Amino acid sequence: MPFDRLYPCHCVISAMKTSNHLLLSLVWVYSVTTKELTLPAYNLRSASNHKILSLPGATGGKAVLVGHEEPLSLNVCIRKKSMVRLDNLRYSNNNFSLFFNVTFNSGEWMGTFYAKPGEDWAIFKNTGIFPRRYALEPGWHVIKIYVIDYFSTNAEGIAVDKFVFSVDDPWMDNDILSCKTICTEKDSFPTKVPSVGTSVFPSRIEQRSFPTSCAEVDNVDIPLYNAHVDSFAITASFPQYKSFSNRRNENTTSCPHLSPELWRFDNFNLSSSSTELVYNKTARMSFYSSSTNEMIVILRFVLEGQKKGSVDSKIGSLLTLKLKNITTAAIVKMRYKEKWGNLSLPEIKEFTSDDLQYTWSIPDFTWTEDSLNYIILTVQSENLRIFVDHLSLQKRAFKPEKHVTIYRSDDVHIVAVYVEMWWLAPDRMTIHLTNGQTFEGVAYLQVYRPIPWNDGYSQVFVLYQDGNARLIPVTPDGLDWIPFGTSVILGQTYSDSIRPYTSITQLTIDPERWTMRLLYKDGGSLLLKIKSSYSETQAYVSDIFFTRDTYTLPFATVRSMYVAEGNTDVDSVKVDNDKTYHVMDQWGYIQGRSFAFYRSCISKHLTLSPDIQIDVWKTKHK
Ligand SMILES: *[C@@H]1O[C@H](CO)[C@@H](O)[C@H](O)[C@H]1NC(C)=O
Ligand SMILES: *[C@@H]1O[C@H](CO)[C@@H](O)[C@H](O)[C@H]1NC(C)=O
Ligand SMILES: *[C@@H]1O[C@H](CO)[C@@H](O)[C@H](O)[C@H]1NC(C)=O
Ligand SMILES: *[C@@H]1O[C@H](CO)[C@@H](O)[C@H](O)[C@H]1NC(C)=O
Ligand SMILES: *[C@@H]1O[C@H](CO)[C@@H](O)[C@H](O)[C@H]1NC(C)=O
Ligand SMILES: *[C@@H]1O[C@H](CO)[C@@H](O)[C@H](O)[C@H]1NC(C)=O
Ligand SMILES: *[C@@H]1O[C@H](CO)[C@@H](O)[C@H](O)[C@H]1NC(C)=O
Repeated sequence: MPFDRLYPCHCVISAMKTSNHLLLSLVWVYSVTTKELTLPAYNLRSASNHKILSLPGATGGKAVLVGHEEPLSLNVCIRKKSMVRLDNLRYSNNNFSLFFNVTFNSGEWMGTFYAKPGEDWAIFKNTGIFPRRYALEPGWHVIKIYVIDYFSTNAEGIAVDKFVFSVDDPWMDNDILSCKTICTEKDSFPTKVPSVGTSVFPSRIEQRSFPTSCAEVDNVDIPLYNAHVDSFAITASFPQYKSFSNRRNENTTSCPHLSPELWRFDNFNLSSSSTELVYNKTARMSFYSSSTNEMIVILRFVLEGQKKGSVDSKIGSLLTLKLKNITTAAIVKMRYKEKWGNLSLPEIKEFTSDDLQYTWSIPDFTWTEDSLNYIILTVQSENLRIFVDHLSLQKRAFKPEKHVTIYRSDDVHIVAVYVEMWWLAPDRMTIHLTNGQTFEGVAYLQVYRPIPWNDGYSQVFVLYQDGNARLIPVTPDGLDWIPFGTSVILGQTYSDSIRPYTSITQLTIDPERWTMRLLYKDGGSLLLKIKSSYSETQAYVSDIFFTRDTYTLPFATVRSMYVAEGNTDVDSVKVDNDKTYHVMDQWGYIQGRSFAFYRSCISKHLTLSPDIQIDVWKTKHK
C-alpha cells in the first residue's frame, strides 16, 4: 500500500499517483549539531478549543482531535535562524481514511499525508519525515494541520499526539520549541570606543566555562587578555530583549554546596562495628570496640575550601548526635583533629533516656581543604546496643553582613560592607576617602547615585575585595530595584582556585569625582571612573599598572551563570558587533576589540540584569 506516505507535492491527487518522488526530498545533511525536539499537541489552549481524547498510548495520556474545518495551530519558536524539518507526526484515526496537510506560518507547505483507515484511536501511527524543510527566522512561528475530508466520509478527523522536529541548532530545547522560553536575535552592540579604531592592539577572550545545574554558581568564566592594555570600558545596559518581568529571586535547586549540612548519617547501630558507612564519597564513618562497654566511632571527611571558592573548611561547624531510645546512660567523648594535626581535648556529654540529643561546636579555622579531617567519638555504656537517629556536621550560621554608609552627599552614597567569614579571609580591603577617613576590614563596597526623576538613590556599582565588579544602569521608572547579574573581575587574577580572584588591599576613593584607585596585593593598580546615564552605567578603567606577566594573565575576567537556555545570566557573546558565539560553546579563543555579553533568550533568572559590554579603548605601543 503506497498511500501511507508523505508526498513532496502540493497536489493531493497527483501525489496519490506518484509515490517515488518521496526520496528526492530526503536530501538532508544530518549534521552533528542537529537537535531532535518534541512538541506535544496537547496544551491548555488546544484543550480549550478541541476535543481531547484520553488515550494511554499518547504522550501524557492525551491526544488532540483535529477535525475537518477545525485546524490545529501550535506555536513553534526558534532560537536563531535555523533549518527546521518535521521528522514525525504521531497520530491515530478510526476506520475512515482522510488527508491532512501541515503548513508553517502563512501557508508554507511542509507536506500532505494520506491516512488510510485506522483500526482504533488507541493505535498510534507515525508519518515519518515530511518532505519540505525551511530556514526559519528566530522567534515565533505557527504550525498548522488541516484535515481534508477528501472522500466526504464525514470522518471525525485525526487524534494528534505530538510533533518531532529536527532543528539545526545544538542549543535548541523543548522549552524554546514550545515558546515557553522566548528568544530573539535582535542584538546590536556598536563599539563604545570613540573613533580610536584599529590602532588598538587586539584583545582575546578565552573559553574557560564549565557546565552546572545550579543557577547560583558562576560557571561562566571568560578571561580577557591584552598584553598592551592601557584603558578599557565596561558598560552595563538594560537587556536588549523585551521583558518587563523583574524576576530576581535566587534559585538554589541543585545547589548542594549552599546547604549548611556538610554530611549526615541516619539510622545506624553502634554495634554494627564491621561496616563502614559512606556519605557521598566525602565522609566515612567506621567503628571499633575497644572493650565490652566502650565503642569508638571514627569520622573522616574532606571539605572544600578556598581552592574551590568555598568557605566550608574555614567556617566553624556543629556536630549533632541524636540517639533513639536508650536503656542505660551513655557517656560520649568528642575529639577532633586540630589545625596543627593534634587531637583536641575531649568534650564530654552524658546521654540518658531523657536527654538524647547534643550538639558540639567546633571553632572556625579548624578544618583543612588539603587533607582528611577527622572527629573521634568514644561511647561508654553498660549496654552498647545503641541505636542512633542521626549524626551530622553542619556549618555554623553566618552572622548577618554589616552595612555602613561611609560617604553621603547629593551626588553619591557609598556603603562599606563587612562580612563575617569572607572567602579570602584574612584578606580584606582598606578604604581611604579624599576627606581623610579610613575604613578597614571591608569585604565589599556599594555605590548609589541619585535617580533624576524622583528623590531616590539607585545602586549602580559594587566592588568586592576579590576584584569582582558589578554594574547596573539606574533603576528604570516604575521599578524599585533591578538585580545585578554578570560580573567582571578587574585586574590580574590568581589561578590557584577554580574561582578566579584578585586581592584588593587598598581603595582610594574620590567620591564627588566618582573615581577610585585600586591597589592590589601583588603591587598592581588601576584607576576606575564610574559614569551613569539614563540607560547605562559605565566603568572606565585607565592608569593600568600590572606587576605580573600580561601575556598569560588577563586584565579582566567575565563571570556569569548559564544552566540552560532561559535560565542564565548570559547566553551569548558578540564580538566587534559582528559574530555571535554561544557562551558555552567550545570556541577556545576569539580575537576582537569589543565584546558584548548578553542574553538572546529571556531568562527566568535575574531577568532584568544587564548586558555587559567590554571595549578596549587604548593600548600602549612599545
Ligand atoms: C467503522 O467502525 C464502526 C464501529 O466498529 C462500524 O459501525 C462502521 O461500519 C465502520 N465503518 C467503516 C466504513 O468500516
Ligand atoms: C491545506 O488544506 C486546507 C484545507 O483543505 C487548504 O485550504 C490549504 O490550502 C491546504 N494547504 C496547502 C499548502 O496545501
Ligand atoms: C531553578 O533552577 C533549576 C535548574 O537547577 C530549573 O530546573 C528550575 O526551573 C529553576 N526554577 C526557577 C523558578 O527558575
Ligand atoms: C539495629 O539493631 C536493632 C536491634 O538489634 C535491629 O532491630 C535493627 O534492625 C538494627 N538496625 C540497623 C540499621 O542495623
Ligand atoms: C548526597 O548529596 C546530595 C546532595 O548533593 C543529597 O541530596 C543526598 O542525600 C546525599 N546522599 C547521601 C547518601 O548522603
Ligand atoms: C524506651 O525504653 C523503655 C525501656 O525499655 C520503654 O519502657 C519505653 O517504652 C521506650 N520508649 C520508646 C518511645 O520506645
Ligand atoms: C595542639 O597543638 C597546638 C599547637 O602546638 C596547641 O596550642 C594545642 O594546645 C594542642 N592541643 C592540645 C589538646 O594539646
